[in-house]
Amino acid sequence: MKTCKALVVRNEPVFSVAVESIPRPEPGPGEVLLQIQWSAVNYKDALALSEKGGVIRNYPMTPGIDLAGIVVESRDSAFPAGLPVLVTGYGLGVSRPGGLSDFQAVPVDWLVPLPTNLSPREAATIGTAGFTAALAVRAVTAKTTPEQTILVTGASGGVGSFAIALLAQLGYKNITAVSRKPEAVKQLTELGANRVIRPEELLSDQPRPLSKQLFHGVIDTVGGDLLAQILPAVYYGGVAALCGNAGGIKLTTTVLPFILRGITLSGIDSVNVPMTLRRAVWQELADDLHFLQQLSVTEIALADVPATAQALLAGSHSGRTIVKL
Ligand SMILES: NC(=O)c1ccc[n+]([C@@H]2O[C@H](COP(=O)([O-])OP(=O)(O)OC[C@H]3O[C@@H](n4cnc5c(N)ncnc54)[C@H](OP(=O)(O)O)[C@@H]3O)[C@@H](O)[C@H]2O)c1
Repeated sequence: MKTCKALVVRNEPVFSVAVESIPRPEPGPGEVLLQIQWSAVNYKDALALSEKGGVIRNYPMTPGIDLAGIVVESRDSAFPAGLPVLVTGYGLGVSRPGGLSDFQAVPVDWLVPLPTNLSPREAATIGTAGFTAALAVRAVTAKTTPEQTILVTGASGGVGSFAIALLAQLGYKNITAVSRKPEAVKQLTELGANRVIRPEELLSDQPRPLSKQLFHGVIDTVGGDLLAQILPAVYYGGVAALCGNAGGIKLTTTVLPFILRGITLSGIDSVNVPMTLRRAVWQELADDLHFLQQLSVTEIALADVPATAQALLAGSHSGRTIVKL
């Protein structure tokens, strides 16, 4: 029997996470077998590795919502053996075994052929975090201009860092990064933020439904109280792209920023993006990869994933961590 090496999360007899040698997956109808070269560790992967994370649909599970690799077995002429591909989202690593394995069987409907100018390592570096940031940047740039002020929260994280780098690449000069980490200021400035503030600077003891207008666009990865206090400070006609909930899922607000300032809330989902848009966004990312140069990327092995996941959940992780298979 052919085997492969994978990270496996089990919920019995007790909750456990370990690198195991398991039978190599067999592709079913409509699937291909991939040899995975790179995966990554996203916030959702960290939740998948945690007992109360609530993202894994069935156990045992190999997590990993991102992968980049090569088709090694296929009955589909559109995705022949030898084709480099990437997959992010859908049910990868959540309802079906994911990218933290050296082989995986994946539905052909999930495959994005790797753009020719993108390496598998670069694809995994971008991964769900960069793809989500690109969707959020599209939403914000559709309603703002490069001289206007954009606020990015959870700035030192994967989505936040990419969002700043992509905005800077598009010529945005007034990017305010919100980070709880004083040590991240230099890196965020190098990425393109012209101002780095702490979340407390946006939080008031007596929040008002409308406050001084400060931001034309917002890319938010934190949610909760921080987002609730940012919305009243969005300029007339501005936009807030909501990507994440690192600080909480509740949003307590009023209708006033919407009905008196006409602001737009733009929800960002990276998981079920239709394939046409998915390919277009990946091609856009591949066409200008300058934004990758400043990014802090850490390369780890499969066995190091649990420690990185803990750092992500503790909010102490910065930049992007990719996993070499
Ligand atoms: N909508 C989608 O499809 C989609 C896709 C990808 C990710 N997400 C979500 O987006 C969020 C960010 O993902 P990521 O991969 O960038 O995660 P990440 O790398 O862990 O970044 C999250 C950042 O948020 C800040 N943060 C963490 N915990 C916080 C807390 N309790 N209160 C306030 N700020 C906190 C930290 O930045 P600072 O220390 O710099 O403040 C942290 O680096 C997550 O909620 C994730 O689930 C959604």
